[in-house]
Amino acid sequence: MPFRPDLRWSDVTPEALFLNRRQIIAGAAAAMVATPALARNKWSVDQTPNTFEEITSYNNFYEFGWGKEDPVTYAGALTTDPWSIEIGGMVDKPGRYDLADVTKGQTIEERIYRFRCVEAWSMVVPWHGFELAGLLNRVGVQPGAKFVAFETLLRPEEMPGQRDSSFPWPYVEGLRLDEAMHPLTILATGLYDQPMPNQNGAPIRLVVPWKYGFKSIKSIVKITLTDKMPPTTWNILQPQEYGFYANVNPEVDHPRWSQASERPIGGGLFGGRVDTLMFNGYGEHVAALYTGQDLAADY
Ligand code: MTE
Repeated sequence: MPFRPDLRWSDVTPEALFLNRRQIIAGAAAAMVATPALARNKWSVDQTPNTFEEITSYNNFYEFGWGKEDPVTYAGALTTDPWSIEIGGMVDKPGRYDLADVTKGQTIEERIYRFRCVEAWSMVVPWHGFELAGLLNRVGVQPGAKFVAFETLLRPEEMPGQRDSSFPWPYVEGLRLDEAMHPLTILATGLYDQPMPNQNGAPIRLVVPWKYGFKSIKSIVKITLTDKMPPTTWNILQPQEYGFYANVNPEVDHPRWSQASERPIGGGLFGGRVDTLMFNGYGEHVAALYTGQDLAADY
């Protein structure tokens, strides 16, 4: 059973290490105020997370280059404060919301999620974030809305990859409304006890754990509710390889490689590949969203 309702990463991390991190980060005196206890939740998996180092030094963030180490090398230059998100389309309260306003009233939880890239590597990440549904309910989704479109910041001055004009910047992604409203779908604002590192999509990014990683769009500046399936970056670039849905599915191979197994990052010298799970192991929660759909056709 992958799910343990009562587990937090602090439960699976040696306590001394955990306390040590807390003290370093928050300072003993300020700890009570600076790091309020996170709400417990039933969505975390019973797996040891990857290290902070692994999660923050092996990344895909093409705005900073094509190499796995380009994001950690170049993303430090990104200005993430001030930050705002323009929320519009079929909503009752459209507008430009400051980051503080976006998170206002939302419960920030720790979510230890599996993360499976379409390239067949995987990690386990202790995100901090809140349910996207909380924000969507706050801005008021209008009855005709069927999809949610997301857009990443366009700032070539600070994002050297965006100077490559052969790529259709800005990076865009989308979800069906029922996927967006699912409690597993979060807007993440941090990982471990840190604000979101730039290379992981500061200051706020999407995380949809049952889909391939490319759906989890980083550094979001725009959210639009719409009645049409929105264009998505990888589908624009290679439609026969990357569909809109991108649900993790070991039975539907990428045209150029198998999706039946994956390589856990940090597995070490003897760490072999492991089987990929349907919906990345979240099937009991999300399979019902796709009843009657042909997942080979809707890849
Ligand atoms: N979002 C933006 N804006 N730009 C990107 O290049 N890469 C995607 C996704 N979100 C990407 C993005 C891909 S392919 C993956 S696997 C994940 O981010 C990687 O997230 P991580 O670097 O935090 O592991």
